Amino acid sequence: MATYPSIPRHVAIIMDGNGRWAKERGRPRIEGHRAGAESVTEVLKGCIEQGVEYLTLYAFSSENWSRPETEVSALMTLLNHFLKAKLKDLDRQNIRLLTIGQLDRLPAKTRALIERTEAHTANHTAMTLVLALSYGGREEIVAAARSLASDAAAGKINPADIDGELFASRLQTAGIPDPDLLIRTSGEMRISNFLLWQISYAEIVIVKKFWPDFGKSDLAEAIEEYQRRHRRFGAL
Ligand code: IPE
Ligand code: IPE
Ligand code: MG
Repeated sequence: MATYPSIPRHVAIIMDGNGRWAKERGRPRIEGHRAGAESVTEVLKGCIEQGVEYLTLYAFSSENWSRPETEVSALMTLLNHFLKAKLKDLDRQNIRLLTIGQLDRLPAKTRALIERTEAHTANHTAMTLVLALSYGGREEIVAAARSLASDAAAGKINPADIDGELFASRLQTAGIPDPDLLIRTSGEMRISNFLLWQISYAEIVIVKKFWPDFGKSDLAEAIEEYQRRHRRFGAL
């Protein structure tokens, strides 16, 4: 039987429940998002301590654009603050920032902050933080199919040569190993259009807590749960 590293190399998280966390306290939803940003900082620290190499965070989905304009713009403002405040931290901690998603839909200011942070941290090696922003798994798969189809139409590739590896190389996650562990907070048992291709063999851990209540110890527990799993990848 093959053995796998006991620490997941790549952890992906659907950070859910910010709104409900705020509602429970009689506070506006945006306060839940603010508290959620604190969890991001703590979980990032936890990942470094545990030796996780890649952390992908679902911060804003393609479908989240259909929320009320006030919430969307508050989220974008919060994201701008996060990017400004975190640049120094990421730098000091030797963390590289990458983003996936339809970034052209984001406000120009946010895009500029992302570009600056990505460029500034491009050679960092301790860990990679991947922010999924305006991200949808189906949109990503469709874009990959479109790029292959256009190369085939131009005679650059032969359709018969398209295999899983070539396909994955056209996804925005090209070069990033697939997630080993997928965590979703707030107890919801669904994927909500996150990393559809990449999670085919991820171990899924659903945590009841809302995202703002999720911290390092919860990450450690999820990793322990992962370590108790027996990954078979379809074999025996
Ligand atoms: C997750 O919390 C953050 C985003 C999707 C941006 P929600 O905003 O989905 O919070 P709930 O699920 O409504 O509680
Ligand atoms: C998934 O949460 C998206 C993010 C965490 C960014 P949602 O709250 O948007 O998902 P649904 O609506 O419960 O499926
Ligand atoms: Mg939600």
